[in-house]
Parts: sequence; C-alpha cells; structure tokens
Amino acid sequence: MRQPTERLLADDAGLNRAAHLLQQDALVAFPTETVYGLGADARNGTAVAAIYEAKGRPSFNPLIVHVADISAAQSYVEWGPMPQALADAFWPGPLSLVLPLRAEHGLSSLVTAGLPTVALRVPAHPAAHALLSKFGGPVAAPSANPSGRISPTTADHVMAGLSGRIAAVLDDGPCTVGLESTIVGFDAGQAVLLRAGGVSSEEIAAVLGHSLAQPAATNITAPGQMSSHYAPRGSVRLNAITPHKGEHHLGFGAVQAELSLSRTGDLAEAAANLFEYLHRLDALGGPIAVAPIPHHGLGIAINDRLARAAAPRD
Ligand code: TXA
Ligand code: MG
Repeated sequence: MRQPTERLLADDAGLNRAAHLLQQDALVAFPTETVYGLGADARNGTAVAAIYEAKGRPSFNPLIVHVADISAAQSYVEWGPMPQALADAFWPGPLSLVLPLRAEHGLSSLVTAGLPTVALRVPAHPAAHALLSKFGGPVAAPSANPSGRISPTTADHVMAGLSGRIAAVLDDGPCTVGLESTIVGFDAGQAVLLRAGGVSSEEIAAVLGHSLAQPAATNITAPGQMSSHYAPRGSVRLNAITPHKGEHHLGFGAVQAELSLSRTGDLAEAAANLFEYLHRLDALGGPIAVAPIPHHGLGIAINDRLARAAAPRD
C-alpha cells in the first residue's frame, strides 16, 4: 500500500507522534545505535505482517523484539544466570539474546516465525529508548531496508528504500555502531554465537569466562543464511589491495583509496562507516572492490557483512 512517509525529528513532538503511530499498528522506522530499525507493535499480527510486506522479507525469517529494559525482557522469556550476566554487561547495547518464550508471552507468532524462542534486545540509542518508553510495549524491528539490500544507518537510507511503504521515519542522524547487533542463543547450557555484530566475541567471552560455541550448521535460523544479503547493485570484490579498471575502491588502513573505512585502521570507525560507504559507492553504480579487513574483534562482523555483499546473487 502506497502512503506518504512522515519524516519526524527525535524531539518530544516527533517521539509522541512515532509512539502514537505504533499504537495505531503503523510502521515506524527509528534509529538504534546499530542500524535503523523498522518497528511495529510485536503483539499485533497485522502490524508485524506489514513489516514483512514492506521489506519484501521471506516470512520464515524471525524478527528481533526491542524492549526498554531488562525487566520488560524477562516478562517474555525464560531467564537465567547467563542471560543475566550478558544483559548486565551489554544492555542497553548492540547485543540480542535468543531465549525460550514463556507461556502467555503475548507476542505475535509472526515475530518468532513460529519458533519456540524469541530474540530480544534493549537498544542504547536515546531516541530508541524514548520511543520504547513512550510506546510502552515490545517493538519488533528488523533493519529498515528492503530485504537483501544494504542496511540503513541514516534516515536518508531508510527513505531511499522504503519511502511510500511505511508511515514514518524518526530521524536522529547517523548510527554510531553501524553494524547490526551480535546475536547469542543458548543450547544445552552453552552460549552460542548466532550472528557476529556490534559486540565482539572476545568481549562476550571475557564476561562468560569461556568462548562462545559456534552453531551447528544445520539448525541456525540466523540472519543472512540466504547467500545474497546486504547486497549493493554492482558486484563486490573482497581483499582488493588495488582496484581493477572501473571499480570503486573502498580502502582500510594502509590500503588507501578514494574512500576509506578507516584511514587509521580503526575497526570501530570502519564498522560505523561500512553501510554508509557501501550505499555511497552503490549510488555511483558499477563494481566495488574492498580492501582486506583484519579478522578479529569487530572485523569478524565486518567481514561477515562484506562476504554476504559479495556472495553470488540469485
Ligand atoms: O542491530 C540489530 O539487531 C537491528 C536493529 C534494528 O535492532 N535489527 C536487525 O534485525 O538486524 P534483523 O531482523 O535484520 O535480524 C534479525 C535476525 C534474523 O535474521 C534472525 O535470523 C535472527 O535475528 N533471529 C531472530 N529471532 C531468532 C530466533 N528466535 N532464533 C534464532 N535467530 C533469530
Ligand atoms: Mg537486516
């Protein structure tokens, strides 16, 4: 359904309007510290269905539910010492926890895509927090981009992909982390890394006192299982020290280029710039070549997104 998309500021009037629209079961894109999310009331099946429709998202891919604080999270899931330790260390922040649903949880089964678990996150962004508090309920929110395209880190990215398909976008400038949240699940008492993201595995291991298990290859429902994900229109070539003729080159550290993710080789800076720079090079058209990124800390999540951007298209 075509509709005009309101661009709201993250002031009191804008936040009230955004919360009101969510209460009316409309779709509102909002900033988080990771990427912009496309929010809807997680208890309302019609509102959640509209997310899948606006994104063109396959319905088997479950959504992350955003809540204001730990106690709100605990009302939906079976809690325990490991989630408590991780929430204490990283919430609010770029970590999502996948936990077993409680009976009478009240969330739409479309949010969980019928799984017995749900992914929960308490975002740190002040506008996200204010919106969740004003709305007073759980907000389902995938990244606010058409399915399979580059994730949005500004309101302009959201408008470029979804204008006319959602009620509003709450604009509060660029996202500071720039990569989606790290997703951790639990299997037989072990913490399992389901998606690398804004909190590094090393940081999580330091809190747990042991490293995260890798998911069994067959049973994950983690993001970007589909080969082509986060895809610009042009092809993407990785580990490129020098560009081929016609390629737009994205540099890092000592590999200098027209645009650099971080000239000083800072992985947090590179993460924050990644999607914005892919959007920019994508807008120029043509193939993209990306410098090698070190495979540790946030570099693991950056390389994960780049590998998906470079994956063969269907
Ligand atoms: O940073 C983020 O996480 C952003 C912002 C908006 O919060 N959200 C985000 O959502 O990246 P999304 O929908 O693009 O990615 C959610 C991923 C899904 O692809 C799914 O694979 C995984 O989380 N997920 C959700 N529920 C799950 C569950 N019950 N079990 C396993 N994986 C789950
Ligand atoms: Mg996404």
